[in-house]
Amino acid sequence: MGKILVTGGTGFIGSHTCVALINAGYQVVVMDNLCNSKVEAIARIEMITGRHIRFYRTDMRDKHGVCQIFEDNKIDAVIHFAGWKAVGESVEKPLDYYENNLGGTLTLLEVMRQFQCPILIFSSSATVYGSHNPVPYQEDMPTSATNPYGYTKVMIEQILRDLCVAQHRFSAVALRYFNPIGAHESGLLGENPNGIPNNLVPYVAQVATGKLDCLRVFGNDYDTPDGTGVRDYIHVMDLAVGHVAALAYAVNHTGFEAINLGTGKGSSVLDVVRAYERASGRKIPIKVVERRAGDIATSYADPTKAKDLLGWETTYDLDKMCADSWKFTLQNPRGL
Ligand code: WQD
Repeated sequence: MGKILVTGGTGFIGSHTCVALINAGYQVVVMDNLCNSKVEAIARIEMITGRHIRFYRTDMRDKHGVCQIFEDNKIDAVIHFAGWKAVGESVEKPLDYYENNLGGTLTLLEVMRQFQCPILIFSSSATVYGSHNPVPYQEDMPTSATNPYGYTKVMIEQILRDLCVAQHRFSAVALRYFNPIGAHESGLLGENPNGIPNNLVPYVAQVATGKLDCLRVFGNDYDTPDGTGVRDYIHVMDLAVGHVAALAYAVNHTGFEAINLGTGKGSSVLDVVRAYERASGRKIPIKVVERRAGDIATSYADPTKAKDLLGWETTYDLDKMCADSWKFTLQNPRGL
């Protein structure tokens, strides 16, 4: 097997996936424009794995730069994480999001065709299930979105479906992530958002350290067991290993597949708060406020297809996710 190009490989999920790929015996090449991550992640991957990583500071929209990577390296497959993912920002700047996420992916696919690289694992999201499907979400359900970011995922999945019809040798797997949290057990890699976190667990982590004073719970009047939002939280290392399993599948199959990567279990906001209090030994003060626009009550996966097709299932529970998140937070008080 040649090299695996990981676009967005210095990001949260990308960097953990690089560790899992190297642990599985692959050579990885990382491409990232560092707009939303730190190059320090490369050093951390090297510390964890003991292997040198070839890194290119390249934007996926730079066709010459992407070609250079394929000229320098024999790339057998691409795992594509690069893209913007802030829901609120995508509503304010839709053209930027379509130009970056769709335009960048089209450039990448054009270069892959030029260099006859026939395998793409795409970072999709449970957000493509929209707000009208019943839980647990299954891959054959209709997709939609409630914001431009979500529509870039829906549209890229469609682009890949169409490409696989036109190019019979091409293999594309769209992995639909649920809510990735946690960190590598070494504490050397973890979630490292810029500024005030939008997502629940990195926000709770900063409340636990005292950097933020309390967690605002966005509504407790949902139709859920305790009234707060329910999500399918998955350990980022389980997610990373899911990519290795998807790659092994894609090497032996052509065509398009969408596959859920989730635990199949839902946890409420208050479940997460309690788990984080157990992990950190710190009290997490909360204040219930109004619902956040665009939030749905409940989201969790039917993980059957991943088990049947990839032989993959999650291994870590919510307490382990919070314990690893807390270890990373303590070891990296100023992030990477
Ligand atoms: C989880 C729960 C909130 C923050 C988002 C993106 C999605 C995907 C994963 C990329 C919800 C509640 C949160 C807070 C809170 N990203 N919450 N107070 O919204 O499920 O998904 O990240 O693909 O596209 O939308 O994750 O962590 O933001 O929220 O009460 O300060 O925590 O209401 O119920 P979400 P989240």
